[in-house]
Amino acid sequence: GHSIQATGVLHGRSVVITAGPTREAIDPVRYLSNYSSGKMGFALAAAAVKAGASVTLVAGPCQLATPAHVTRVDVVSALDMQQAVSEHIAHCDIFIGCAAVADFRPVQVAQQKMKKQQDHDHMAIELVKNPDILAWVATQSPTPFTVGFAAETNEVAKYARDKLERKGIQLIVANDVSDATIGFNSDNNAVTVYWPEGEKAFATSTKESLAENLVTLIAEHYKNFKK
Ligand code: CTP
Ligand code: CA
Repeated sequence: GHSIQATGVLHGRSVVITAGPTREAIDPVRYLSNYSSGKMGFALAAAAVKAGASVTLVAGPCQLATPAHVTRVDVVSALDMQQAVSEHIAHCDIFIGCAAVADFRPVQVAQQKMKKQQDHDHMAIELVKNPDILAWVATQSPTPFTVGFAAETNEVAKYARDKLERKGIQLIVANDVSDATIGFNSDNNAVTVYWPEGEKAFATSTKESLAENLVTLIAEHYKNFKK
């Protein structure tokens, strides 16, 4: 008989998802990172599998179980994540950039543990911008249907639409991270999805339930996508 997957809205489609934070090494015992838990990206991976897709999840450091039937590729830094994405993007139909990629990394990674200098009360670490993985995917040819996330604390709609246009992507999922009950590290999330001609708001729900609704919306838009 037919499996549930065989009737799914993403049956036969290949999906690559990034999730979690990245860690940017400072020295052998220290790094720069952020509060992303990876829960939203893992929930999307599970929802895409449920919808019939074959799913590769490129995950930064996070303490989460791999959803069933998902191919997981673990990475640490933004450069590692870009490398892993580039190795899996070739036959990908849909790319979802859910990771909280560190925007910058230290210019130099000290090979030995950095020591406090006794006569200095201040110290500075020079940073350099990381590549924008999502924007890079959107420039590939053939380009997959590309979905981004935007974490904002203010002017959510304006900044989300800016990113949609600047990165040349098809959909952007925006959440207001100034509300601590949703978003980063929370089990719940509320988002608004923007595309060039419209938008759709999703009320607060679990990340699992939201992920299923997002996958449904992504599949609807993907159907009409011309590369
Ligand atoms: N992103 C990425 N690579 C980066 C930075 C961000 O792929 N180096 C992706 C994220 O996965 C997300 C989207 O870009 O899908 C937006 O991330 P966000 O941090 O909200 O936007 P930025 O473009 O980094 O801008 P800013 O942090 O200044 O708001
Ligand atoms: Ca950023």
